[in-house]
Amino acid sequence: MQSANIVIPFYSSYGTTHKLAEAVEEGAAKVPGSTVRLRRIPEISSAEEAMSGQDAYEAAQADMAEIPRIEQDDLRWADGIIWGTPTRFGNMAAQVKQFIDTLGGMWFEGELEGKATGVFVSTGSIHGGHETTILTSLVPLIHLGMVFVGVRYSTNDQIMTTEGVGGSPYGPSTMPREDEDVEAPVPEEVQTAQSLGQRVTRVAARLRAPEAAPAKSSA
Ligand SMILES: Cc1cc2nc3c(=O)[nH]c(=O)nc-3n(C[C@H](O)[C@H](O)[C@H](O)COP(=O)(O)O)c2cc1C
Repeated sequence: MQSANIVIPFYSSYGTTHKLAEAVEEGAAKVPGSTVRLRRIPEISSAEEAMSGQDAYEAAQADMAEIPRIEQDDLRWADGIIWGTPTRFGNMAAQVKQFIDTLGGMWFEGELEGKATGVFVSTGSIHGGHETTILTSLVPLIHLGMVFVGVRYSTNDQIMTTEGVGGSPYGPSTMPREDEDVEAPVPEEVQTAQSLGQRVTRVAARLRAPEAAPAKSSA
């Protein structure tokens, strides 16, 4: 099996997207030959100003403090890039968009073209943007030339649920529950996230350019 390098850049205010990111990471790491990096997309000052002082925000930020910050070199290194974002009015968070908007140079050089990609999200409610956030996130990723990977129905029975559980053919999703005893992501959402991690890794391995064959000796 061809190896694949996978990076998972995510932003999270309150930690839910972080937990889903860990499930994606577990899935990617299960694929033999994979090397996986979990990376934090940094906060932006206006959001930090608005949310600092909130206990849940402060606790989640402290919990993520040790996760290395995403760098453009992580994207260069990766064969597959799996993005995580909370929903903001049905779209990706500004923190993620701001990072993507720093990639103009990489776009110009075509450095992300042909890499496998996928998206996972956290919302505040079941109808608040699980699917739209992934679909709208696709637009810049397509501009960058990446190859989108969703989640297959055939390996994810839980996508067929009629319950209030995240996950769609477009990608994994979750939401904090009103019942504080129910921790998000719930097991079905974890499975969908692991499934996307595995699938992007397998596709990335197939898309990766074959290793250069050793030069034949002229002797
Ligand atoms: C400015 C703002 C806009 C939001 N818009 C939506 C929305 O459109 N739909 C929704 O379900 N939740 C919305 N939310 C809730 C967040 O998506 C939710 O808190 C987040 O997904 C939790 O993820 P996190 O714990 O990783 O921060 C919004 C939150 C904020 C602060």
